[in-house]
Amino acid sequence: MVKVVLLCNRATVSLQGDRLMERSDPTKVAILGGGRGGRALLDLLHQIPSIEIVGIADSDPAAPGLQRARELKVPVTTNVPDLISDHGVGLLLDVTGDPEMEAYLHAHKLPTAEILSGSASRLLWKLIQHESKLEAELLHSEKLAGIGSFAAGIAHDINNPLQLILGLAENLTVERDLAAVHEQARDIIEAVKQTSAICRDLTRYSRRASPHGNVMVSVNGKLDEALKIARYASSFHDIEMIKHYQSGAAVTGNPDELLHVLVNLITNAVHAMERRGGTLTLETTLLDGQVGVRISDTGCGIAPDNIPEIFEPFFTTKAPGKGTGLGLYNVKTIINKMHGTIAVDSQIDKGTTVTLTFPNAEPVGQGWPS
Ligand SMILES: Nc1ncnc2c1ncn2[C@@H]1O[C@H](COP(=O)(O)OP(=O)(O)OP(=O)(O)O)[C@@H](O)[C@H]1O
Ligand SMILES: [Mg+2]
Repeated sequence: MVKVVLLCNRATVSLQGDRLMERSDPTKVAILGGGRGGRALLDLLHQIPSIEIVGIADSDPAAPGLQRARELKVPVTTNVPDLISDHGVGLLLDVTGDPEMEAYLHAHKLPTAEILSGSASRLLWKLIQHESKLEAELLHSEKLAGIGSFAAGIAHDINNPLQLILGLAENLTVERDLAAVHEQARDIIEAVKQTSAICRDLTRYSRRASPHGNVMVSVNGKLDEALKIARYASSFHDIEMIKHYQSGAAVTGNPDELLHVLVNLITNAVHAMERRGGTLTLETTLLDGQVGVRISDTGCGIAPDNIPEIFEPFFTTKAPGKGTGLGLYNVKTIINKMHGTIAVDSQIDKGTTVTLTFPNAEPVGQGWPS
């Protein structure tokens, strides 16, 4: 869902995906059964912002689904009647495998609640799993397509240390002074380390996002990592960098996916300044229990007519072969998964600011640096 607000000649788009629905009318779901099926459904449904899981029940307090629910701060209970009598619940997902449960639920549920049980629940689980596999494939394909554009940057960055190594090695063939030989050997080692660091960064970035997602990630560290990667994708020539980092800004999510988001946004910002140079500003903040990340450029800006389109798959204003138009679509998918929001504020020929907000994983601190 895209909300567009036009203010004079400034265009602001605030995109919150299903979050808007979540605020007004989330689907409240109760999961019955904390075995493997219950745990898998919990993991998958928890990622969907428009669904609120009101609780999960199992007679075994140590069931894997209940343990996972405690980690995700979803209410757990061993008492089915308590859970199904919750007035807000719209959907009861029965994955207990107990043949009598369905009849019990029909007899005791509130009239407004619907039941999905047995093979219907399993089908739902399979469909959601299939969708998240497709999503992961799409993310990875877009990342690999982007890496194609790194070739020139990588060649440049690897060529410098290689030239240095060549020069030093040529010197060594005629050098007689042992101390100088040692010094040049040390320089060669440093240059080789520099080259292998480039290869390591890129190999790490190009791999598939780890499926073990939900960990605490330092946003400042990821921004710096993203900057290193983005430098291969685009020329930072004539671009001034400003950083305002709030220490301790941390979010919960998949580190590989967050890196992917930040690389995409920084790359877009730098591409927008490619012709005339400009200033790239990276900011992080902790405000009212939320972590904010702001990426601003002073580039070409986005035409107001294009703003509602930029999160659509395959929308690009770049020349054929220069962009897939999947960057912001994937950014939006990941931000939704992290229960965050993204807002774009752009003014033609002045620049663009992209603001991300996430629930914070750290104690609350100061506001935006002024
Ligand atoms: N910072 C920005 N400044 C100006 N225009 C932008 C900016 N970010 C995005 N856009 C516009 O939004 C469009 C879509 O961006 P998106 O990242 O989805 O795709 P892309 O950059 O064109 O291609 P890629 O798939 O390689 O990222 C861009 O083509 C551009 O027109
Ligand atoms: Mg892009």
